[in-house]
Amino acid sequence: DTRRKYGPLIGSIDEGTSSTRFLVFASKTAEVLTFHQVPVPHIVPKEGWFEQDPNVILQAVIETVDVTCDNLKKLNINYEDIVAVGITNQRETTILWDPTTGKPLYNALVWMDIRTSSTVDEILQNGKKPQSFLQNQCGLPVSTYFSALKIKWLMDNVDEVKEAIKESRCLFGNVDSWLVWNLTGGVRGGLHITDVTNASRTMLMNIETLKWDPQLCKVFDIPMRILPEIRSSSEIYGYIQRVTKLMGVPISGILGDQQAALVGQMCFKMGQAKSTYGTGCFILYNTGAYTVRSTHGLLTTVAYQFGANSKPVYALEGSVAIAGISIKWLKDNLQIINDVKESSELAMTAEESGEVYFVPAFSGLYAPYWRKDARSVICGLTEETRPQHLVKAALEAVCFQVRDVLVAMALDCDFPLTKLLVDGGMTANDYLMQMQADYCGIPVVRPTMAETTCLGAAIAAGSAEGVEVWHVEKIEPVPSDTFVPSISENMRDVKYSRWKMAIKRSLGWATE
Ligand code: G3P
Repeated sequence: DTRRKYGPLIGSIDEGTSSTRFLVFASKTAEVLTFHQVPVPHIVPKEGWFEQDPNVILQAVIETVDVTCDNLKKLNINYEDIVAVGITNQRETTILWDPTTGKPLYNALVWMDIRTSSTVDEILQNGKKPQSFLQNQCGLPVSTYFSALKIKWLMDNVDEVKEAIKESRCLFGNVDSWLVWNLTGGVRGGLHITDVTNASRTMLMNIETLKWDPQLCKVFDIPMRILPEIRSSSEIYGYIQRVTKLMGVPISGILGDQQAALVGQMCFKMGQAKSTYGTGCFILYNTGAYTVRSTHGLLTTVAYQFGANSKPVYALEGSVAIAGISIKWLKDNLQIINDVKESSELAMTAEESGEVYFVPAFSGLYAPYWRKDARSVICGLTEETRPQHLVKAALEAVCFQVRDVLVAMALDCDFPLTKLLVDGGMTANDYLMQMQADYCGIPVVRPTMAETTCLGAAIAAGSAEGVEVWHVEKIEPVPSDTFVPSISENMRDVKYSRWKMAIKRSLGWATE
């Protein structure tokens, strides 16, 4: 029977920036048995503002679970065999809600929203303080990206939030907390928790003690009572009450999506790194027990902590805000492609990029620049420029941004990477992966199992104490394809120096 063939099953909720998925893994074979995916729309009330409806996020999760369980039934597999559920989520995205009604006090402010630009100026006292003034405590530069800025903006600008805080009716959470609170309780909610990886993206957690830091909270005027309890990434937190088909199943793993991909890629050793290509692109480098403070624009973040009594593992991260979404922009806004999947075919027809360079700084520039005043530029246009040149330049921009981060990592760590593990939607594009190897000058290794983010959350859930159907050290790495650099070093460097010239033009555009 199927139970004997697949072993106990592990469910993985992946709530990303663009869509929500629920996948089910067989513990015996680590294969994905089935999944369902639902897109989650962005609400863009103003330029640079990105919101999502927290209830739409929650309903999307419930729908994906329901449909996936029905899919299992069609495969003659019992969904009752799901013994644990892990959650992985878009990080930093900020939700405030009223626990007495269960209702959000405002839409979720999505991580790439840049309305907090003036909040950054306020915290930095208009440039009197350096962006890095809190880096020792939290590992992060002051940027529009992180949750503390978003909470402060909501507290300063939304009357309902002000009132709810005054009346002690306000809870904060990233998407993981919002989901757990809802899934483990009824309308009045359940557990108010988060995991260390998500907490490490708020700017409010001390990166050494792994506790909320009163001094950091004071900088942003954030009352500590609204914050969730910080737990490890892998332990039984509580049991699902809200989704009938998974009633009573433990939630036993939580990881921010980029950390989940690091785990899913089995980067458990210091010096291993991965790059995930989704809406943005995020490169994480395992630094073991060490909290390396970057002096080249990278973030210090928690990679994972498997169990409440285990030591945390840290990572250096290079966050690139815009990757896949720039291709979507070419489709939706410029309408020069009909489908993002067409992008490589079209780009291949552009013999040479015609020296077109495209810096997609829709949210300013993140790592390693951290410039909220950067804006997108397209340069090098001639009368010969065709849509395919723009598409190629957008794909090249993804590769150059990854190179920017790898250069910073080599400077911070003294160990240049010898290969780059990759995953995420865009890695299905062979053309892009070859270009990535060419422009970085190191082999690019793509696992044949594409669902590394979900696998990471499933590993956290399945190996938690009390579940233990998986043992991290026994999981075999999956086979992979390798893309080897094929252009000359000279060509690589010439192209990269042109990219840097384009970057220079983008910096400061919003303030000049
Ligand atoms: O930090 C933002 C990141 O977690 C979003 O990931 O895959 O939704 O682009 P993704």
